[in-house]
Amino acid sequence: MTEFHISSATQPLRGVIRVPADKSISHRAAILSALANGDTRIDNFLPSETTRATVNCLRALGAEIEQTNATTLVVHGRGLRALREPGDVLFCAGSGTTMRLLAGVCAGQDFLSILDGTPALRRRPMARVAEPLRAMGAAILTRNGGLPPLTIRGGALRGIEYTLPVASAQVKSAILLAGLYADTPTTVHEPSPSRDHTERMLKACGADIELQIANCKTQINPISKLKSPISITIPSDFSSAAFFIVAALLVARSELRIESVGVNLTRTGLLDALARMGARIKIENARDESGEPASDVIVQAAELRATQVGGDEVPRMIDEFPIFAVAATQARGETVVRDAAELHVKESDRIGALTQELRKMGAQIEERGDGLVIAGPTPLRGAHVDAHNDHRLAMSLAVAGLVARGETVIDGWDCVADSFPNFEATLGQIR
Ligand code: S3P
Repeated sequence: MTEFHISSATQPLRGVIRVPADKSISHRAAILSALANGDTRIDNFLPSETTRATVNCLRALGAEIEQTNATTLVVHGRGLRALREPGDVLFCAGSGTTMRLLAGVCAGQDFLSILDGTPALRRRPMARVAEPLRAMGAAILTRNGGLPPLTIRGGALRGIEYTLPVASAQVKSAILLAGLYADTPTTVHEPSPSRDHTERMLKACGADIELQIANCKTQINPISKLKSPISITIPSDFSSAAFFIVAALLVARSELRIESVGVNLTRTGLLDALARMGARIKIENARDESGEPASDVIVQAAELRATQVGGDEVPRMIDEFPIFAVAATQARGETVVRDAAELHVKESDRIGALTQELRKMGAQIEERGDGLVIAGPTPLRGAHVDAHNDHRLAMSLAVAGLVARGETVIDGWDCVADSFPNFEATLGQIR
């Protein structure tokens, strides 16, 4: 396990940076191009532990995937119905997205697949995908309590109408992917809108999919084949940009431009929350990157005030609560996060882990069953903290370290490679 040492920023953060490709879109691009007929070139694919797991699983299912440079893949699609039974367990590493989305694909296959992962992934709940996929006709075994590994004997599926108990793009995507193989239409209802990258990409591949965004309803009709999108360029990950957005807000006199960031509205709840807190963030150069909106994000340091986050905003910033909590420690007043019990079952128990680690740095933060209460502004002090094997917690603690007095040491830094392998180098460009 590696440690990361970070000391307070003594100068403003200034410059122009790019952050790595979107993790969610990278997984989907690999999966859908493997299921399509024809070749797809994927540029700016995220090279990370989690996306590598997806590529390796797809290869084990018979897709031919060439990596022509660090961030370019050429996928020779197998077609929806020509995957083959993997000779071994499909190892999803620590990636919930890999396991849940591939569970949907494997549910449609007339063969046996076993999906497993790291000890951390083995603690993540899978009943949420197993239940709807069983209702569609797949035979699925899990460990007691709905935990991985997942053993899936797929085959003839029937369409279902399913209401997700909590908004989840991973579960929605698993059901929609299985729905491609069903004999009748499949409809998914969500309590609030979650990220819609799967739906956008399925459309681009010619799937018969109807979205009723206002009603949080998506219907997919069975189809015999998907067409290759030919080429996909993946925008930078808003969730990775978020660390630098908050760093620039908190370090006095900073000004940063982050180029070509994915700004899909189902992902940018953090911008709305920060705007209420008094942040000055500009969005420029709006463009389309393979069906996804992308823009440059320009941030200047600002004094922040507390806000409240809950309801539909939660899924729109579900991965940003660790870095949001760091921002809240520096905001005037009491910031309250509610309706976010999902944070207990992310890469770590983010409610418990954030409370434990930010307290070591002097933050006034309290756990609630479905969220957090954070009082500020609190001067943070450098401390020895732990990443809890959670990349987003690790990088959030690094940003806290930039505004803390003295040195912060983060244990278990290696997990940053799950989404942002060059975080240190990117930070080095602007310090
Ligand atoms: C993801 C969806 C979210 C998010 C995760 C990636 C995806 O999870 O937290 O990091 O790629 O679909 P849920 O679907 O469980 O909310």
